[in-house]
Parts: sequence; C-alpha cells; structure tokens
Amino acid sequence: MVRVLMIGDIVGNVGRMVVKKLLPKLYEEYNFDLVIANGENAAGGNGITFEILDELFSYNIHVITMGNHVWDKREIINFIDYQPYLIRPANYPPGTPGKGYTIYSLANNINVGVINLSGVVFLPPLISPFLIIDKLINDIEKKCSIIIVDFHAEATSEKVAMGWYLDGKVAAVLGTHTHVQTADERILPKGTAYITDLGMTGPRDSVLGVKKELVINKFLTQMPVKFETANGVGQLNGVILTLDPNTGQAVSISRIQEFI
Ligand SMILES: [Fe+2]
Ligand SMILES: [Fe+2]
Repeated sequence: MVRVLMIGDIVGNVGRMVVKKLLPKLYEEYNFDLVIANGENAAGGNGITFEILDELFSYNIHVITMGNHVWDKREIINFIDYQPYLIRPANYPPGTPGKGYTIYSLANNINVGVINLSGVVFLPPLISPFLIIDKLINDIEKKCSIIIVDFHAEATSEKVAMGWYLDGKVAAVLGTHTHVQTADERILPKGTAYITDLGMTGPRDSVLGVKKELVINKFLTQMPVKFETANGVGQLNGVILTLDPNTGQAVSISRIQEFI
C-alpha cells in the first residue's frame, strides 16, 4: 500500500511555518510514501517563488501543484520548465510554460502520476477539463500504478461531477482552491477517493488566508483593497490516502485538520 498526504493550499508564511512544524510529526505518525501540496498561494498568498519552492521541497514535500494563481509571481515562468515536480493546471492552452502532470517514482519502483486540472466555472475560461482528462490519463496510465488528480476548482458541482466522471479511472480526485475543507470525503463505488475541497493550510482566523478586516472592508465599501495574509493560529488541512498500487484504487481517505 502507498500512503499519501495531500495538503490543501499553503497560504503565505503562516502556511509554510505550519508545514515546517507539523509535517515531521505527521511523517512520524503515518510514514508517508508521498507528500503532495497545493502551493499556488505559498508566496504571501499569491503564486510561488523559486526560494519558496525550494523551502517547501526541503520540508519533504515531493510534488507541488498550482492553480489560478500560478502566474502571480511572474518569475515562475523562468523556472517552471526546469522543475520536474512543480505542475500547473493541464488545461492551459498548448505552448503555456510548465506542464500539467508529473510522475513521481517511489523507492519501491511504484510510479505515481499526479495531474493538476483547473475548473472553468467561476474561474478563467481555460480548455474544459472534462475534454482533456481522458487523453491525459491515457498518456500516463501505462507508466503509473496510481494516478492522483488535484482538481483546482470553485464550483462544487463541477468538482463532484469530475469525481464521478473519473471514478474507477484514477485513484483519487482531490479538490483544491476554495480554502474551506468539505466533509464529503469518501471512496466512490469504482474505487476512487474523492473530496470536494482539501481546505487551506495557513492562518485560521482569516478569510481564506487574508486578514479578515481587509476583506470585511471590501464587502462594506465595494472599493478595491490590497489583500495581506493574516497571522495568528495556523492550521493544516488535507487528506491522508491509502492507495493500492496493484489495483490503482483507493483503500482509505481521511481528512486532517491540525492547529498550531
Ligand atoms: Fe488557493
Ligand atoms: Fe485557487
């Protein structure tokens, strides 16, 4: 069995500190084979820099996925093509820097494919994820015993539909982007682990990671407000998966929510 931790959107320095402090303890307890994290908000809430990518890898995160904030720190364009374990949504137009999937080889010669997809409902209009995912799976399934999809999307309907669409085709469909953890984790009938959203790893007493006063002010005044990430109590959100490399299916999925 393969034990995987997938961490929900890491937001700013609080999110990174939470990972630094809690991940060693979680490793000790669960002995993960693979740790994946969404890093689209790792740099002060917007995008990721080379230094921060390096920092996250130094905490024993193996694969970083992104989302709609992928280009917020424009320097990513200079290094994304050289980072085998940093992926962005696969449904950007052809020719976009970076790639939409990676294959991570575990010590026991088990290959895990990780695919990053973006939703298109209430998000920038990329190519429909439903129209490209079959080809992507087809391209990598011969090389992988397990495939995990990070579906970075806003609308719960789009995410639930993707879960059903991929049931039996991949080991897990894990939602990211909303920063609010959902309580619907389950294994679908054909063996795919599913959750609508993993939640956020960052400052708990905030609005999706941003200082709450700033967001409330924006709602009150309807004026543009420069967002800053909040401080205070940190939380780590995600799921722990047990996946069977012989069947490519999930055996268990459980949510985690830790505070520090
Ligand atoms: Fe996010
Ligand atoms: Fe996002």
